[in-house]
Amino acid sequence: MGGGALAREILHAHKGKSGILSSFSNIHLYDDNIEEGKRIDGFLCKGKLSQFISGTAVFGIASPIIKRNLFQKFPHWQQAQWLELIHPKADIQDPNSIKIGQGSIISSGCVLTCGISLGRFVFINLNATVGHDSTIESFVSIMPAVNISGNVYIEEGAYLGTGAIVLPGVRIRKYAVVATGAVVTKDVPEYSLAMGVPARFSPL
Ligand SMILES: CC(C)(COP(=O)(O)OP(=O)(O)OC[C@H]1O[C@@H](n2cnc3c(N)ncnc32)[C@H](O)[C@@H]1OP(=O)(O)O)[C@@H](O)C(=O)NCCC(=O)NCCS
Repeated sequence: MGGGALAREILHAHKGKSGILSSFSNIHLYDDNIEEGKRIDGFLCKGKLSQFISGTAVFGIASPIIKRNLFQKFPHWQQAQWLELIHPKADIQDPNSIKIGQGSIISSGCVLTCGISLGRFVFINLNATVGHDSTIESFVSIMPAVNISGNVYIEEGAYLGTGAIVLPGVRIRKYAVVATGAVVTKDVPEYSLAMGVPARFSPL
């Protein structure tokens, strides 16, 4: 779903010879802003998001609110087969204690240690780390090089910008946004922006 830069990055990353998408011969894009029939990086755009009815799918959209809203708008998407994509160069250190929900994506260079739970449609971008005993709820998006310490709880739909650091024991509440480079030392209220070092909060 989606045909922008992120969707293309995900498709290329997971299509390499050891990637899970290499076994799919026909990979198509659905995007409201790309003309039907147009090819982007060799991938054919089949039409608007509403034209995806059933099949196997991957989210190429980073905005947590857009991901959630699309599921509300198209309830039949719940029936599709959403792939979990774990890049071969991601380091899932204790697979026995790491739960990865439907449709979640873990990019190259990520490290997840132990005792971690990811909800549905979580996206973890390049070189991010997630420490022990942390929970990341559905629709959360984590941008490159984010560092999440141990015992962190990230509620549904939060967005963590590139290079943010989250200290141990912190809770980031629903649909909060953490700015690029922020150092989060305290719990972040829901629907707020956390910015700076140490992070200060303001309503979104
Ligand atoms: C925090 C964020 C959401 C704010 O976006 P925005 O509302 O469009 O903000 P603006 O760019 O208009 O900047 C508003 C002010 O905040 C400052 N600012 C923006 N981002 C900042 C950051 N990460 N840390 C500190 N200050 C920041 C700007 O310098 C500006 O200050 P000024 O008013 O004194 O000039 C955005 O900067 C951000 O961090 N996005 C995440 C991007 C990302 O990680 N993308 C992933 C790509 S893979």
